[in-house]
Amino acid sequence: MSKLKSIFVCQECGTTSPKWMGKCSSCDAWNTLVEEFVSPVSKNISSVPINKTSAILLKDISASEQVRLKTTDNEFNRVLGGGIVKSSLILIGGEPGIGKSTLLLQVAMQSYGLKVLYVSGEESEQQIKMRAERLSVQTSEVYLFTETNVEQVLHQARNIQPDLMIIDSIQTLQIDGIESAAGSVSQVREATYSLQNFAKKNGPAIIIVSHITKEGVIAGPKLLEHMVDTVLQFEGDRHYNYRMLRTIKNRFGSTSELGIYEMLGSGLRAVDNPSELLVTIRDEPASGVAIAATMEGMRVLMVEVQALVSGAVYGTPQRSSTGYDLRRLHMILAVLDKRCGFRFGSKDVFLNITGGMKVDDPSTDLAVIAALLSSYEDIPLKENICFAAEIGLSGEIRPVNKVEQRIAEAEKLGYQQIYISKFHSKGLPKTQQLNIVSVSKVENLFQKLF
Ligand code: TYD
Ligand code: MG
Repeated sequence: MSKLKSIFVCQECGTTSPKWMGKCSSCDAWNTLVEEFVSPVSKNISSVPINKTSAILLKDISASEQVRLKTTDNEFNRVLGGGIVKSSLILIGGEPGIGKSTLLLQVAMQSYGLKVLYVSGEESEQQIKMRAERLSVQTSEVYLFTETNVEQVLHQARNIQPDLMIIDSIQTLQIDGIESAAGSVSQVREATYSLQNFAKKNGPAIIIVSHITKEGVIAGPKLLEHMVDTVLQFEGDRHYNYRMLRTIKNRFGSTSELGIYEMLGSGLRAVDNPSELLVTIRDEPASGVAIAATMEGMRVLMVEVQALVSGAVYGTPQRSSTGYDLRRLHMILAVLDKRCGFRFGSKDVFLNITGGMKVDDPSTDLAVIAALLSSYEDIPLKENICFAAEIGLSGEIRPVNKVEQRIAEAEKLGYQQIYISKFHSKGLPKTQQLNIVSVSKVENLFQKLF
């Protein structure tokens, strides 16, 4: 038996070094080098077998449509670009406790007509069974296997021949012949290689759960993300019930897809109309509240902007913002002050995007202004109006992209007015009950609103 060789592997970037160092020479991260043992592989060129397959002309390859496995979860299908592509590798990352296991168990149980193998290295069969009982879905053909050894997992998979395999999580898998602990770079890399090889040989589609680091990126080397076909991120705020499933990389579809779920006592519910979660239904209108038609990926999201403008109690007025860029708020206040003569200089200003949302779409500007003005004047805005435009430094109201989509969504949700920029040159869509109001300057907006 060949002697094991000791190497030091950076857990951040995967660089190897023959000796220990405090700082990785490649990615400059501190204290990331961990000793691992590998059996030396002979790199004798003559021992590499000649591959029988040869290169093919691109035009000779028949491009049959990718076969996609459809789950009954439409949000999940959509995020993947229309279903799970056969024999593909999907990586899903997310914070602990966000609901990755719940989501995937639900997907497994709802994949009617598909044979699913759910491999868990984190929980016992009883724990998974208990979770399955909480989920209010009917079970399809789901096999459960609690194992951490890759060979065992693949052996089961060969026997069962599933259409879809779920690995929860890659950090718990271990491969024979590598001495380092489960979750280390070499274990994760080799385990993923094995799974990838298995999938590509006409095997099942494999969904791999991965832990994330405290910085919020997928743990382990970037290599993992390069190897798989699709990378999804499951995220949300612990204090709120909704969760977002985002595409970060997709070889078989767009990366700007977004799926929204609500975590209930009985599992995750796909939310078709996310605005219902984000916009408060009020008995009577309140001042300082405006609705923005923002875009998250390819979807329109109606978010509620709340502003509170009050006389500064202490010497220096305070400005605080939650869910919206504070520097942008400062800029808007300066524009309102300088171009439109509103005296915000002596006022405290608080801004909040409800529902724990964070928006960075500049089209939120107009709603922010409307909320600020409404609170400043202490006059509530009319009900059922929304906003979608950006503000320029000279106080002009600028057009935003995908305005047609925003208008269509506003109409669908029963809004009566949408405020947009006057400078949208292309023909705007015809609307039935929705009134499109074009404004070019903040003064304009003020006159039309109050
Ligand atoms: P889990 O799927 O275990 O998270 P992850 O695999 O990402 O670590 O989700 C755990 C959380 O979800 C837990 O805090 C409880 C909550 N939860 C519900 O609120 N309702 C449910 O039906 C289930 C199964 C979990
Ligand atoms: Mg889990």
